[in-house]
This record gives sequence, structure tokens and C-alpha cells, in this order.
Amino acid sequence: MTPHPSDPPGPDSHARLQDARVLITGASAGIGRSCARVFATRGAHLVLLARRLDRLRDLRDDLRDRYGVDVHVFGLDVRDRTGVDDLVAELESENLLPDILINNAGLSRGLDPLHEGRVQDWEEMLDTNVKGLLYMSRAILPYMVERDSGHVINVGSIAGHIVYPRGNVYNASKFAVRALTEGMNLDLVGTRIRVSTVDPGLVETEFSRIRFRGDDERADEVYRGYTPLSPHDVADVIAYVAGAPPHVNIFQTVVYPTDQRSPFVLHRSSPDQDEAGT
Ligand SMILES: NC(=O)c1ccc[n+]([C@@H]2O[C@H](COP(=O)([O-])OP(=O)(O)OC[C@H]3O[C@@H](n4cnc5c(N)ncnc54)[C@H](OP(=O)(O)O)[C@@H]3O)[C@@H](O)[C@H]2O)c1
Repeated sequence: MTPHPSDPPGPDSHARLQDARVLITGASAGIGRSCARVFATRGAHLVLLARRLDRLRDLRDDLRDRYGVDVHVFGLDVRDRTGVDDLVAELESENLLPDILINNAGLSRGLDPLHEGRVQDWEEMLDTNVKGLLYMSRAILPYMVERDSGHVINVGSIAGHIVYPRGNVYNASKFAVRALTEGMNLDLVGTRIRVSTVDPGLVETEFSRIRFRGDDERADEVYRGYTPLSPHDVADVIAYVAGAPPHVNIFQTVVYPTDQRSPFVLHRSSPDQDEAGT
């Protein structure tokens, strides 16, 4: 009898990542950096991108020493379309094109009513979270189509499912990520390429410090009195999605901390503060 692809003793989710090449945007901090570590523990080779190249170099040295995997790092602003195209051309010429693309680079700026919002903040969010993801996907997907294999994993948010007060443009950017994940999946029907989104709730990273422009006290408040997700928790889910058998596409995964049931329902041990954030 021919075994079904998911029958034991086939490779498990970890083993399927062995020797895969994984490109991660926004790998200098938070979820992206944790992804680099989790994928390295499973034997994947890495291409790590972010603007803070010094941080990427330290991470590369650590991962190479610790796990013996191949790690390449490049300084890149995903908003720079020419820079993205040039980098992908370089990856192609050096045989470093990824099997798995993780579109993680993203940010939120401010938490203001729309009529008081800063246009520069809107542009930064849309240029990074939406256009940066598009530039990366447009540059890399043709190679995946040519090989008829690959996996794009977009990091969305619960902000892409439910709009919360003063989230406006950040919410819109993450709704766009969800729509683009769906659109890419539809457009790639008939290929073996999968497109997934992993959509977390509150994760303790540099995210709130960036949102509140270095107001560390306000950022710390976001994570006070409950247990948020760690970036490792999210990276672990992303690696699970990536390690599914090739005929399985885990299209959309929403991950909350147990203490958070929606952007509006958060259990804090001292419930005197209720700022939403994802
Ligand atoms: N933390 C949360 O609660 C949460 C919840 C749901 C979804 N998310 C999403 O998770 C993703 C990662 O966020 P995080 O929480 O890990 O935040 P983080 O700790 O601030 O990390 C953000 C990463 O994105 C990179 N980045 C930002 N702008 C970039 C640009 N223009 N070009 C290249 N890289 C850029 C940063 O690197 P450089 O500054 O070095 O370029 C950094 O590595 C984002 O898409 C975010 O929207 C976060």
C-alpha cells in the first residue's frame, strides 16, 4: 500500500525544515529575530534582513557558532523598491534564493484618532507593512513559480481582523496583509506554492516602544499585569506552519495570549489600565 504523505514514520514538522533556506525580513528584533533562532535550531539556512545591520551581524555569528547553519545578512529597508530588487538579484546570483519567505518587517506608529493622526506615520506604516511586503513578494515569487515550490508566510495581526479605537491606519495595513495573503493564494492556484498568514495578539517586543516613539513607560504599560506572548511563542507557530507537509497549507493562524480574548478583552491582575494594542 502506498503510504499517505502524512503517515508516520515520514519526516516531522522539524525535520522538514532541515536545510531549507529561509529569508526573514525584520530579523534584527522581536518576532523576526526569534524566527531566525527557531529556524536555525531546526537546521534551516538563513538570509536575514533589516536596517540595523550591526544587530544582524551579531545574530549571524551567534547562530553560526551555536547551530552550524549557513547565515547571510543584508542591510535593507523594505520600503526601498530598487533596493529590494537589487538584493533579490544578488541572492539569485549567489544561489541564496529562499524556499520560505517570511514577510515580518512591520511597525505601528502612534495611537491617535484619525482626524489627529500624522500623515508621515500613515505613510511609514503603509510603506513598510503593505508596500514592503508587496515589493519582497513581487521580487521573490517569480522564482518560486519557476521552481514550482515555495512558501510565503506573512506576519499579520489580530489588528487585521478587528478594528480597535485609534488603530485606524495600522488596522488598515494589517487588513491589507490579510487580503494580500488571500489574493496571493488565489493567484497561485495550480502551483505547489503556499501562502500563509500568522496573526498574533499582544507580543512583548520593541513594537510598543516604536509605536510610542521611545516612551518606554507607556510601552511598558501595554504589557503590565498579564502574560503576553513572547516573540518565541510566535516564531514557534510560524515554524510549525512552515514545517507542515507540502500538501497542507495552514492558510491563517490567529494566536492570542491566554489572557487576551480580543483586542477589547484583556485580563490584567490590576485592571486599572486598558490601552489596546497589537
Ligand atoms: N508585537 C506585537 O504585539 C505584534 C502583534 C501583532 C503583529 N505584530 C507584527 O509583527 C511584526 C514584527 O513586529 P515585532 O513585534 O517583532 O516588532 P519589533 O520588535 O519592533 O521588530 C520589528 C522588526 O521590523 C524591522 N523593520 C521595521 N521597519 C523596517 C523597514 N522599513 N525595513 C526593514 N525592516 C524593518 C525592524 O528592523 P530594523 O529597525 O533594524 O530595520 C525589526 O527587526 C510586525 O509586522 C508587526 O506588525 C506584532
